[in-house]
Amino acid sequence: MSGDIGDDLGQRVAAVVSAAFGVACTIEDAVVRPSQREGVDYQVNAAMALAKRLRRSSREVADVIAANLDLGGMAESAEVAGPGFINITLSTAWLADRTARLAADPRLGYAPASEPQRVIIDYSSPNMAKEMHVGHLRSTIIGDTLVRLTEFAGHEVIRQNHIGDWGTPFGMLVEHLIDEGLAEQDFSIGDLNVFYQQARTKFDADEDFAERARMRVVALQAGDPATLELWGRLLTESKHHIEAVYELLGVRLSPDDYKGESTYQPWLDDVADELRRRGIAEDSDGALCVFLDGFTGREDQPVPLIVRKRDGGFGYDATDLATIRYRAQDLKGDHLVYVVGAPQALHFAMIFAAARKAEWISPETVATHVGFGSVLGADGRMLRTRAGASLKLTDLLDEAVERAAGLIAGRGELSEEERTRIARAVGIGAVKYADLSVDRDKDYVFDLDRMLAMDGNTAVYLQYAHARIRSILRRADRVPELGAPVLLAESAERDLALKLARFPDAVQTAITNLQPHRLCTYLFELAAAFSTFYENCPVLKSEGATRESRLALALHTATVLERGLDLLGIEAPERL
Ligand code: ARG
Repeated sequence: MSGDIGDDLGQRVAAVVSAAFGVACTIEDAVVRPSQREGVDYQVNAAMALAKRLRRSSREVADVIAANLDLGGMAESAEVAGPGFINITLSTAWLADRTARLAADPRLGYAPASEPQRVIIDYSSPNMAKEMHVGHLRSTIIGDTLVRLTEFAGHEVIRQNHIGDWGTPFGMLVEHLIDEGLAEQDFSIGDLNVFYQQARTKFDADEDFAERARMRVVALQAGDPATLELWGRLLTESKHHIEAVYELLGVRLSPDDYKGESTYQPWLDDVADELRRRGIAEDSDGALCVFLDGFTGREDQPVPLIVRKRDGGFGYDATDLATIRYRAQDLKGDHLVYVVGAPQALHFAMIFAAARKAEWISPETVATHVGFGSVLGADGRMLRTRAGASLKLTDLLDEAVERAAGLIAGRGELSEEERTRIARAVGIGAVKYADLSVDRDKDYVFDLDRMLAMDGNTAVYLQYAHARIRSILRRADRVPELGAPVLLAESAERDLALKLARFPDAVQTAITNLQPHRLCTYLFELAAAFSTFYENCPVLKSEGATRESRLALALHTATVLERGLDLLGIEAPERL
């Protein structure tokens, strides 16, 4: 049980169903949902599906459930409505008690998983030797949140930064450096971007250069010392660059988590041999390929995974085959998660299918591609690095921080140091939240004005709501402890308490669906519920037990907002 009220009700419904009808029933079968209807908190939809199974009318089934439901004080009654919905209105006294207990719990009611798993999360994974683009920004931000959520759920997480540090781009670059006599020089990431563009142009236009670049890849793969040396220097510079981005973002990725494509080189021959020996890969037109049922392209042509290319080299497919074998068999992951853009959906579907066919992953192991849409510019086109210099991720982030500094410029009471810290929290938070708050499958427009809007579903709105509560609490002479009793006399108080009680559900939904935006939506609704509460229920000006209770609700709300934002990797400053 996750600690959610809906699950609690679900268990009670399931117990009645099993006892009254003699059929197995899970929490999922109980179908308990929060209700939008006025005066109803939860709706139970179990009777609809059961009616078919039991060949009885849904109304009849609902009547039996409602009459026998042991609500254990949660609610006065369960009312049957329409064709067989069961409406439940929680007892306000019970809700008050529950709210206080959730506030007292350091996990705010969210119980850790009863069966912890080992979850491998592949995220960020930029290509080296050029600057990170916004697609990698998305993977980094979404992946970081999934890491935080998964760890909060009590699972063990192994982070994997599958950096693109091998293959054709490096052959091209090394060859270009030697060609232009640049090999002796020191270079920065900015230079690398330019070199990359130049090398790419030559590669496409000059067949002789292209051939030498390919030979260079072979030399790299064969361990030629001079090639390896240059490759290493390119990599070191690139790593400095991504580390600066991670630092700025406050993302929990360290060099220990880097397992780039080059890591898997020593195993590629073995992977190829194993697949061939077991009849999973076959020769096709000079290449070694895995054909899988159901994967066809245009005109029903089968699309293969290419294990070994015609020229004998290994590419992206081969590396990912070796990678999944490693993650399943060596790291022993129960759940393999890949946070990579939507265009790679087919690639991962095929890698997963091949790994299952090879029995590298057991039937119980879950493999998930967490895809995401593109970041668009104001013109509605893909926001991306063009000709090397036009869009740099760090410039984008710096601009967000600068604009955030502008937002708080008028606040005289903040020290210089606080100002810098807050601008960073607000600017970076804005970018992260804009990315996390949309359904990740969708594209979104990178628009700093909207990201930094004080009203609307933005980080700064939530950060401001949080800081405002902290300021109220600072002004109260004495604040009750988390878990102090609450009175829910006004409907705005009751609504706020019910929202606070739904924190475990919001977290669980975000984790189950690997959808951070579910948590964002919840936090936004919570902040709105607090706003309504604050408009209708004076806090500092009230007295006695009412004042205590309202302060307790305020503290509980600030705590949930802070924790929720932290799960999204966003800071919640005390003042704004
Ligand atoms: N470097 C790749 C890219 O930029 C993403 C790698 C994702 N992870 C993986 N195991 N293939 O497209």
